[in-house]
Amino acid sequence: MPPSRPTTTDPSAPPAVRATHLTVHRGHRPVLDDLAFTVPTGRVTGLLGPSGCGKSTLMRAVVGTQRAVTGELTVLGAPAGTPALRSRVGYVTQAPSVYDDLSVRQNLAHFAAVLDPGRRAAPRRTAAVDDALEAVDLAAHADARAGALSGGQRSRVSLAVALLGSPELLVLDEPTVGLDPVLRRELWALFHRLARESGTSLLISSHVMDEAERCDHLLLLRAGTLLAAGTPDDLRTRTATDSVEAAFLALVDTAAAPGDSAAQENR
Ligand SMILES: Nc1ncnc2c1ncn2[C@@H]1O[C@H](COP(=O)(O)OP(=O)(O)OP(=O)(O)O)[C@@H](O)[C@H]1O
Ligand SMILES: [Mg+2]
Repeated sequence: MPPSRPTTTDPSAPPAVRATHLTVHRGHRPVLDDLAFTVPTGRVTGLLGPSGCGKSTLMRAVVGTQRAVTGELTVLGAPAGTPALRSRVGYVTQAPSVYDDLSVRQNLAHFAAVLDPGRRAAPRRTAAVDDALEAVDLAAHADARAGALSGGQRSRVSLAVALLGSPELLVLDEPTVGLDPVLRRELWALFHRLARESGTSLLISSHVMDEAERCDHLLLLRAGTLLAAGTPDDLRTRTATDSVEAAFLALVDTAAAPGDSAAQENR
């Protein structure tokens, strides 16, 4: 596990991410439109919504790689994209890349050297690689060629890469897509362990609504707007439904009044 930091479950603690009037344009079209939300510290936050609703765009804005972002977006107390945040935020993209011809350990050693270069940092890098391998339960496969791993094992290698700098915030874009239910359950258990034991804040996207039930906090996105935010319990109670999926659909129905341009656009 990465070195532990004090875990924060105090709801009044400053959030890991705070957005106000967050807007992203692509061409003349806003693909994120005036969003206001927070991502609580030390919790697993799910970013849920259908394909094309803007999840990846929002995540890129948080990690500072998205262009044409306006509004305010504060990450770990600093403006998103500030160079000092680079080592404090781990990011796994939707199509993560690992080198198939290298072993798991060699992949991690490569990325560790990029993060923490220099000969004198070598012992620190070895320790970081060992910790990351252990965190994702891949120590037994450290010498396997990445190209010979299963899909779930490869996802865990990408996650291990993101853990190398012991980030305070982990941003994971659809990390469980295409995985079987057992692996998905294992990964969600790992996410919660990171939050609980290391105080890491996690922002995880998915378009699979049953994964929402596994999150501490949810942001429900649709066609670039925030439909709702809260705990799964909050959302179910607010909509008098018994699942987050049903809550999402109820919220869509409420929001999709005639003339709703977001609803029209999505058809
Ligand atoms: N390169 C681009 N140029 C212009 N528009 C784009 C580009 N990439 C994505 N978009 C648009 O931005 C919107 C949001 O896309 P985004 O990739 O953030 O959605 P997503 O929720 O991550 O979808 P998915 O679940 O399929 O990954 C979509 O309407 C998409 O058409
Ligand atoms: Mg996406």
